[in-house]
Amino acid sequence: MIRNTAIAIMSTFCCTVFAADIAKGKPDLEKAKKIAETVCIACHGADGNSPTSANPILAGQGADYLFKQLTEFKALDGKPAIRNNPIMAGMTAALSPEDMKSLAVYFSQQKIKPSAATNEKLVETGKHLWRKGDFDRGIPACSGCHGPAGAGIPSQYPRLAGQYAEYTELQLKNFRSEERSNDPERTMRTIADKLSDKQIKALADYVAGLRQ
Ligand code: HEC
Ligand code: HEC
Repeated sequence: MIRNTAIAIMSTFCCTVFAADIAKGKPDLEKAKKIAETVCIACHGADGNSPTSANPILAGQGADYLFKQLTEFKALDGKPAIRNNPIMAGMTAALSPEDMKSLAVYFSQQKIKPSAATNEKLVETGKHLWRKGDFDRGIPACSGCHGPAGAGIPSQYPRLAGQYAEYTELQLKNFRSEERSNDPERTMRTIADKLSDKQIKALADYVAGLRQ
């Protein structure tokens, strides 16, 4: 009980700090737009609607989540980055915390272009898992944290609705293999560990077709 309370307080603390950080100072949206149009554009599009499915869509994602990811891609003081990705490590190397804040706010304000689920057969499996989880395997409903329509809870849980299936599938597999380990209290690693390849495919496809 005491332990649970401590964890609850800790997790509130983690995200309040990020939320406060984002709110502090004014984001320089003009500078962010310039960086987006010259650097990020190649992979994420200038408005965060990435042209190819290998790169995640950033448009409409929560600013706190984006800021957390940018901070964690950057290797500091010779230590390995918290979220390991060579491409994004390179992209964040030259960004200051202020740039990251401004970019996070800039991309959160862009509009996501609608996409669709492509695999009809898998959609039902995905929908069931999303809403109800899988009791036998101990998988909780994704909607509990990411919202019924996948919009997320901006200060804590990322938006998943409309994201490319390929990217969502890769992240779930990366959490499962612990290649990605920046989820607070191992939340996503614990869940992904119980997902089969087929369940991951079904969820990734279902999420791609969700509208906020
Ligand atoms: C050369 C391609 C490339 C460029 C340029 C690039 N990115 Fe990325 N970005 C990626 C890839 C690939 C990923 C997925 C990384 C992974 O699988 O963990 C990513 C992931 C991200 C994420 C995490 C998204 C999420 O949903 O967790 C953020 C935030 C991000 N990029 C922001 C930026 C910003 C801001 C810029 C410009 C300064 C930028 N990127 C430039 C390729 C790129
Ligand atoms: C208890 C809360 C919780 C539940 C339940 C949950 N998630 Fe998450 N999820 C998180 C958190 C927190 C993060 C952000 C981790 C971070 O900060 O990098 C996340 C991140 C993700 C990401 C990465 C998003 C990105 O842009 O890179 C995916 C994909 C994801 N979750 C899918 C799912 C799926 C599918 C389910 C259901 C099987 C699920 N989640 C259930 C809390 C949850």
